This record gives sequence, structure tokens and C-alpha cells, in this order.
Amino acid sequence: MSLLHCCAVVLVFPLVLASDFQERASRTGNAQIFVKNPKLGSVRDIKERSLEKLPVSEGHHKVTRRSADPGGDACKALQGYDSRLTNNTHTYVFNDLSGSVSLAWVGDGTGVVLALTTFQVPFFMLRFGQSKLYRSENYGKSFQDVTNLINNTFIRTEYGIAIGPENSGKVILTGDVSGNKGSRIFRSVDFGNSFMHSDLPFHPLMQISYNPRDANVLLVISITYDLWVSEDFGENWKKIHDMVCLVKWGTDNTIFFTTNPNGSCSDRGMLELRKTSDYGRTLKTIGTKIYSFGLGGRFVFASVMTGKGTLRMIHVSVDQGETWNMAQLPPVGHEQFYSILAASDDMVFMHVDEPGDTGFGTIFVSDDRGTVYSKSLERHLYTTTGGDTDFTNVTSLRGVFMTSILAEDGSVQTVVTFDQGGEWRRLQKPRNGKCDSTAKHPEMCSLHIHASYSTSMKLNVPMLPLTEPNAVGLILAHGSVGDTVSVMAPDVYVSDDGGYTWLRALKGPHHYAILDSGGLLVAVEHTPSQPISQIKFSTDEGQCWHVFNFTNDPLFFTGLASEPGARSMNVSIWGYRESLLSQFWVSITIDFKELLTRDCGENDYVQWLAHSDDISDPSDGCMLGYKEKFLRMRKDSVCWNGRDYVINKEPTPCPCTLDDFLCDFGYYRAENSSECVEQPDLKGHVLEFCLHGKKEQLQTSGYRKIPGDKCEGGTMPERKEIDLSKNCVSNLLGPELLTEAHSFSSVPIVAAVIAILLISVVAGVVFVKKYVCGGRFLVHRYSVLRQHAEANGIEGVDELDSHAAESGKREYHDDSDEDLLE
Ligand SMILES: *[C@@H]1O[C@H](CO)[C@@H](O)[C@H](O)[C@H]1NC(C)=O
Ligand SMILES: *[C@@H]1O[C@H](CO)[C@@H](O)[C@H](O)[C@H]1NC(C)=O
Ligand SMILES: *[C@@H]1O[C@H](CO)[C@@H](O)[C@H](O)[C@H]1NC(C)=O
Ligand SMILES: *[C@@H]1O[C@H](CO)[C@@H](O)[C@H](O)[C@H]1NC(C)=O
Ligand SMILES: *[C@@H]1O[C@H](CO)[C@@H](O)[C@H](O)[C@H]1NC(C)=O
Ligand SMILES: *[C@@H]1O[C@H](CO)[C@@H](O)[C@H](O)[C@H]1NC(C)=O
Ligand SMILES: *[C@@H]1O[C@H](CO)[C@@H](O)[C@H](O)[C@H]1NC(C)=O
Repeated sequence: MSLLHCCAVVLVFPLVLASDFQERASRTGNAQIFVKNPKLGSVRDIKERSLEKLPVSEGHHKVTRRSADPGGDACKALQGYDSRLTNNTHTYVFNDLSGSVSLAWVGDGTGVVLALTTFQVPFFMLRFGQSKLYRSENYGKSFQDVTNLINNTFIRTEYGIAIGPENSGKVILTGDVSGNKGSRIFRSVDFGNSFMHSDLPFHPLMQISYNPRDANVLLVISITYDLWVSEDFGENWKKIHDMVCLVKWGTDNTIFFTTNPNGSCSDRGMLELRKTSDYGRTLKTIGTKIYSFGLGGRFVFASVMTGKGTLRMIHVSVDQGETWNMAQLPPVGHEQFYSILAASDDMVFMHVDEPGDTGFGTIFVSDDRGTVYSKSLERHLYTTTGGDTDFTNVTSLRGVFMTSILAEDGSVQTVVTFDQGGEWRRLQKPRNGKCDSTAKHPEMCSLHIHASYSTSMKLNVPMLPLTEPNAVGLILAHGSVGDTVSVMAPDVYVSDDGGYTWLRALKGPHHYAILDSGGLLVAVEHTPSQPISQIKFSTDEGQCWHVFNFTNDPLFFTGLASEPGARSMNVSIWGYRESLLSQFWVSITIDFKELLTRDCGENDYVQWLAHSDDISDPSDGCMLGYKEKFLRMRKDSVCWNGRDYVINKEPTPCPCTLDDFLCDFGYYRAENSSECVEQPDLKGHVLEFCLHGKKEQLQTSGYRKIPGDKCEGGTMPERKEIDLSKNCVSNLLGPELLTEAHSFSSVPIVAAVIAILLISVVAGVVFVKKYVCGGRFLVHRYSVLRQHAEANGIEGVDELDSHAAESGKREYHDDSDEDLLE
């Protein structure tokens, strides 16, 4: 498992990237930045009214849990840890007055940590600064000042420390050399043990980016928008293109970038999308009139101007941009955006912003081709200005995602899906939680999670939700219990079953970390104005917490640091102390190895069935067509999983049920039911759509298998796509590409069945007539939605659907955009 993603904390990109395909920073990169004296912003007002109507299902599933409630006295078990931990606490004091420190882990399990401190004084337009570099080889227990390796150059913090992919041991630091025409980089190939420097013939605009397949190949855009590539790890650089607006590494050494041949990057919608597979020796234009592009899973997405006003539409390619199809998503105007929330090789979660500055949009989930979409969640909170969404992939359990919706009264509420967007519901009230004043009913309310939106609103939330793929089922997050997200001081909640059940673990805001694959949790109270000396830890997934005084000389805490990947047992507490005149950095590292004195044995693990609520039911625990049994550490076992711990899981396939299907075009899932119901406005119409330049008719009973679902046998609703042997426009990308897409091969007279999904169990295949070619189907629906929303304020889902049905008829006969599309 590679944990070495690029520095995620510092994101410096040209402003033009901000609006389409917003990149969601992964928060678990290998670099961290701490700054002294964090200023706490004012607490802004989130409306605290309750909700009238639920766009979210209340759920027809039962609730599951991993294990019995914690016994009240279970917490006494662990004793006499104080001296053992004291003996394994290592303090390192930096003789350094700098304002910020960036940390980066180099390699996986090497224990190498680089700490870069910078001291900056802004002076007119210039910046004067000084950087110091420290290096540890023992997980931060002690450091060596290696500033001489970078020759006292001022290193730019915003580009951080660029760590090479995999275990390459490569490190790049980007420095400023005053009076130079270019920048200077320091490069290491031996985990930061030694550095060589080279001068760049340009100034970089972004952090230098490694080819994920080959750490010797680097690319970067300069401040004059030239694209530079180096194939020898930064020794020699070659300019491969000018006027480059955005660049990304694709798979197989491909570089994708947008460029504007005669204009500037602010000319959105006039860009060309190009790619090169040989580092710039040959270039290919794969799209014109591009607004922006994004990569996710095996998909390439581009938003392309429709030529109709300022509207643009998503196009998708699954062959690295060689052929494109229009995504069946509504087009958006200038003030709106698309965002890829998460993508795997099977599917993508796409957010489409609502027109107007509403702060919300709709989440769509794609099929396995990325072209056909189903509506998954409405009123999804995603601020246009801040670009913040709470969407979180719960990486500790397959199929689970959390996010927030903006209710009609303006309040923010958390929802969760356990089946990859099929159904969303509220989080269960924690067993030991009480509804706060936002709840209308004192007993009935739910848990709301604070994530990016809360941090952007400067609420007192020091950390985002935390999950790790190797800590199965575990979620740590800040939350409040009521009818909406509350501004009151949040507490820390844990779930050990992937979000089905929750427990209030710690009172008040904390910083937290997962160690030893979930076998150990640590937390430090968030008290910015007071120095701290205590760390809390739990060996039973957050049920019981123990306190350890790690120092007699409290420090102002800035953050917890542990090796990415949650396999470590060493955690560092970073902060600073004040002396008479100044502040200096301190890092205190605790090795918990001595606490968990023994390795876990067979008896320390129990079997756990994920997504389960009733073991006697044969379909219990089925999720996306299969169930998984895991071996998980017993809560009362105090032992060490170890670095080499691998998740032990047993997958078994399940028979298909309606829950393994999404609702097809023109269908929606009725509240509290697994059945897909036909949209009234489309009854009795034939549904056609356009794929690879061929018009196809969709014969559907309303169901479409969820991408990645592996169910076998059971219920199999029929679905066919019939080639109608008519050409149509399936994409708006350059005319030469279009002719490529049209093949003149034999035109079959008899309609060819492209895809048949076995025998129909659900009776009566329904024909829906509606041209979906080029996405018009959805265009029309959404324009209606908008008018409606503007005219009447905002209403619930059902009203919108039925209203669309009424006024839809008028729109349906309006074929004015036919010419444009055909
Ligand atoms: C702590 O370390 C000291 C000296 O290294 C040793 O004498 C003492 O026994 C240790 N204590 C524990 C609890 O391991
Ligand atoms: C450090 O800087 C000095 C003076 O600018 C220069 O002579 C020397 O070669 C540099 N050393 C390294 C390792 O970059
Ligand atoms: C660039 O300029 C040429 C001629 O001035 C024009 O034909 C072409 O359309 C322009 N291209 C773009 C992308 O603006
Ligand atoms: C969510 O995270 C898991 C674990 O890291 C990953 O395998 C999966 O592809 C992600 N899902 C999506 C849709 O991004
Ligand atoms: C830890 O420190 C707190 C005060 O900061 C004190 O009340 C407590 O007794 C200490 N615990 C131990 C075990 O020393
Ligand atoms: C903790 O740090 C020590 C070095 O000080 C290292 O030997 C040990 O492997 C680390 N433990 C883990 C679990 O990473
Ligand atoms: C759905 O279920 C919830 C709770 O079981 C109930 O309150 C609600 O009325 C149901 N809605 C419909 C449309 O049946």
C-alpha cells in the first residue's frame, strides 16, 4: 500500500482551477504544517432550526452494531502504564524561533521525518526568510539540524516538501534564490540524507509533481504558464508547451493538460485539452472549447462549452481521451460548477451545482461507463464561494460515505449512505448522547458530523473525520446531537461499525490519531489558549480513555503527528514553549510499544460481519452484492497488531435483490421502499439516448445494477439497450474527433441488442419515450427545476418531481435545440 501521496496540506494552484472539478484534497498526505498561535476565528451562525420535510430516507433497514455495549467497569483494566510510558517519552527541543514548521515522512516504515521550519518577514513586495531543515531517523524521537544540506536557502513553505511516490526515497525542496532568474531545487534520492541542488530555468507556479509510475520524471508549470518536464529527476528540464493552464498525470505516463493557444487561461471555455504519452515528444489535441478537466478512477472528464450561451457539459472518456461521450448530466452555466467528489474504477460521485448562489447542488452517481447517471442526493451542501463540502469517503468500510445537506430552513444536517449512494439517511443518535436544544423532540434526533464546512465556518473543530482503510469500521469525528449541526462546542464521537452506531468518546474538541491499525487511539484536547501536558489514549476503539501526563513543563499544542497509514505506535506531540523573550518549537514523541507489551495472538481476534444486523438472515450483511467477514481485535485485548498486520477478510457473494439496483432513467425510488417508480411525466414514452454516436433505445423496467455490485442470481430486472442505427451527436468535441467517432461500418437493419441483463423477474418492461440524445432529457428537467425553485422558493423532492411533470410537457415539445445537437 502506498501512503506517499503528495503534500496535501498546501494547495497552491492558479485561481482558474477553482471552479470545475474541484480537487478534493486528501487529508492524509505525508506532510503537515504547524503554525504558532493559531488564530481562532469568530464563531459564525449556522441556523439552528429544525427541518420540516426530509429529502432523506428515514431508512427501512435495521440498525447494526459491532459489539455489546461497553461494560461500565471495563475501563479499569489498564493500570501502571505511567512509568512505562514515561520511559518511552522523548522530548526534542528545537533551538528555532521560526513561525511555521512543515513535517514530511519519507518512505514507508523508515522512520525518517523531515522538519522544515521557516521564518518569514514580508517586506514590500519581497519576502525575506530563513529556513532550517531537521531530519529524524527514529520517528521523530530526535532530530539533527541539517540546514547545511540546503546551504541556508530560503525554502518556500507553500510548495512544501515534495516526497516521491512509493518508497522511492526521493525528496524535492523548492528554494528562492534572490536575484536569480530561476528557482533552485534541492533533490535527494536517499531519504533526505544528502541533497544535490540544481537551478531551474524558470520559477515554478505549483509544487513539482512526480509521475506516479516513475519518480524520475517530474513536471511543473512555471509562473509564465510554460509546462516543463524533467526525465532525470530534476537535473535537466525541457519546456514542452506554453500557455498551459492545468496539468495532471494520467495513467501509463500520460500527461493531460489544458492550454489556450492565443489567449490566456482566464478565457475559460476556449481551452484545448491535449495529452502526451512520451513526455512531450508528440502531442495530441483531444478536445476543444474546454472549460476544465478532471481525472478520477479510470475516467477522464472534461467540461465542454455547448455553444449555447455560457452553458457547458460534462464529457467522459474511458480510453484516456481517445473517444468521448456526453455525460447524461445537466449542463451548467458560468456561475455553477461540477465537482468529482470521489471516483473509483467502477463509478464516480459527481456534484452538480444548482443555478444561483444557493450553496447546494445534486449528487449523481455514474454507471460503470461514467456516462449514465442517477440522482443520488439533493440539496447537497457545497458552498460556491468557499468550495467546501463535507463529502467524506469512509475508507474504513466499503460503500460508506458521509456528507451534509442544506435543509430547506437553511440548517445543515449530516447524512450517510451505506450502499455507495443508493440510499441516504441520518446518523443514529449515539447510545450515550442526549439531544441538544436544536431538537424538537427530546428523545428523537440524530448525530451530525462536523467536517470541512464547519472548519471553513471557523467553528471550534480542530480536525476532520478520520478513517483508515486498515482500521476496519472505525470512524473518529467531531459531532453534535440534535436536529441539525450545532454551533455549540462539539464532542468527539466514535463508530466501530462504519457509521451505523456511535458513541460519544470525548467531551469537547480534540486532536486525534489512529495508531497500530486501530488498536490504539490517541487524542489531545484542543485548548489553543492554554498549554497542555496530557495525552489521552484508548486500546478498545474509543470506549475507555486513559490519561498520561507526558511532561511537567506544559506546551502550547499545535498538532499530533504520526506516520501516515496508521501502522505506527509512535506519535509526536508538536508545540512550542515560551521563554522570556521568545517561543521555540518542541516535539515530544511517545512510543506506545511498551504499553501493549505483547503481540496479538489468534485469541485476540473475533469474527465480525460488516453491514450486519441479523446474523440469522441469509442476506444479512450483503452490500453491493457480497458480504465480508473480518477478523477484528477484541476490545478487551491489549496487544499489538504490528506493522505487518493485514486485514483478514472473507468475501462471499449474495443473491441479487432490488437493493442491488439503482433506479434507471425516468425512475425514482419511492420513499421507504426498494422499488423504483416511473416518473409520471415520462410514462408511455420511448427512452432513447446517444452513445458513441449511435442512437440507442433503452428498454428498462426501471433498474440498473449498481456499478461494482457483485451479486449473483436472485432478482434480475431486465434492461436492454437497442441500437436504433441512427447517428447522433454524442459529444461536442472537435469536428475531426466527431468524424472519427462515426464509423461507416454496416448499418444493421435489425436492431442489435447491445446489453441484456438476464431474465426479467419484475413484470412488464416499460417503454419510455423521450429523447435523451445529448443530454436533452436532463437539460429540460433541470431548467424546469430551476424556474420552479426561483418562483416558489424551495420545496421538497416530491413536489419538484411532480411539478416538473406538469410544466415538462411544454418544454418537451420545444425542439429548438434539436439543430444544435443533431
Ligand atoms: C525505566 O528506565 C529505567 C532506566 O532506563 C529503568 O531502570 C526502569 O526500570 C524503567 N522502568 C520501567 C517501568 O520500565
Ligand atoms: C553554498 O553556497 C556557497 C555560496 O553561495 C557556494 O559557494 C557553495 O557551493 C554552496 N554549496 C552547496 C552545497 O550548494
Ligand atoms: C487563435 O487565433 C486564430 C487566428 O487568429 C483563430 O483562428 C483561432 O480560432 C484562435 N484559437 C483560439 C482557441 O482562440
Ligand atoms: C473510497 O475509499 C476506498 C478505500 O480507500 C477506495 O478503495 C474506494 O475506491 C473509494 N471510493 C471512491 C468512490 O472513491
Ligand atoms: C496529571 O496532571 C494533572 C494536572 O495537570 C494532575 O491532576 C494529575 O494528578 C496528574 N496525573 C498523574 C498520574 O500524575
Ligand atoms: C517506533 O519508533 C522506533 C524507533 O524509535 C522504531 O524502531 C519502531 O519500529 C517504531 N514503531 C512502529 C510501530 O513504527
Ligand atoms: C417512512 O418511514 C418513516 C419511519 O418509519 C415514517 O415516519 C414515514 O411516514 C414513512 N414514509 C412513507 C412515505 O411511508
